[in-house]
Amino acid sequence: MKKIEFESRGRADTAKIAYDFAHGLEEGDVVRLHGDIGVGKTVFVSGVCKFFGCEEFVCSPTFAIMNEYRGEKTIYHFDLYRLESADELYDAGLFEYIGGSGISFIEWPDVCEEYDGRKIYDVTIEKNLDINEDFRKITIVEE
Ligand SMILES: Nc1ncnc2c1ncn2[C@@H]1O[C@H](COP(=O)(O)OP(=O)(O)O)[C@@H](O)[C@H]1O
Ligand SMILES: [Mg+2]
Repeated sequence: MKKIEFESRGRADTAKIAYDFAHGLEEGDVVRLHGDIGVGKTVFVSGVCKFFGCEEFVCSPTFAIMNEYRGEKTIYHFDLYRLESADELYDAGLFEYIGGSGISFIEWPDVCEEYDGRKIYDVTIEKNLDINEDFRKITIVEE
């Protein structure tokens, strides 16, 4: 296990941290994103999309379970907030994307526990209001 911590002072910092992190990613990897609503998980994905030159990056997949962004590599951006169980992911035919020929980013991943054989990263983003509104601690654990 490898663990790295970063401090972000604003949106641009978080995107840059993600951009640098993206260098090491390969197709099939799974990145689980942890943290409260509005903490910056989608901003993190935007930084990765920038690295891979994905053009379709628009916004959070709030109303879709999964959005796909194509660039040098394909990014699958999941938001499982509304799911009650992983069955819905299977039923929607989306589970097969995870670990396929793209890199998966999963917001609210707890509903889905099985990522057999994939390389998994856990990215945790936390505020610290004692510092200020925009500060974030970002911890990346490579399993
Ligand atoms: N250090 C920071 N890193 C990321 N986002 C930040 C930061 N400081 C403020 N923000 C703001 O917080 C919000 C994060 O939104 P978003 O990425 O959609 O959150 P999530 O996907 O975790 O719900 C954005 O409005 C962004 O501008
Ligand atoms: Mg989001």
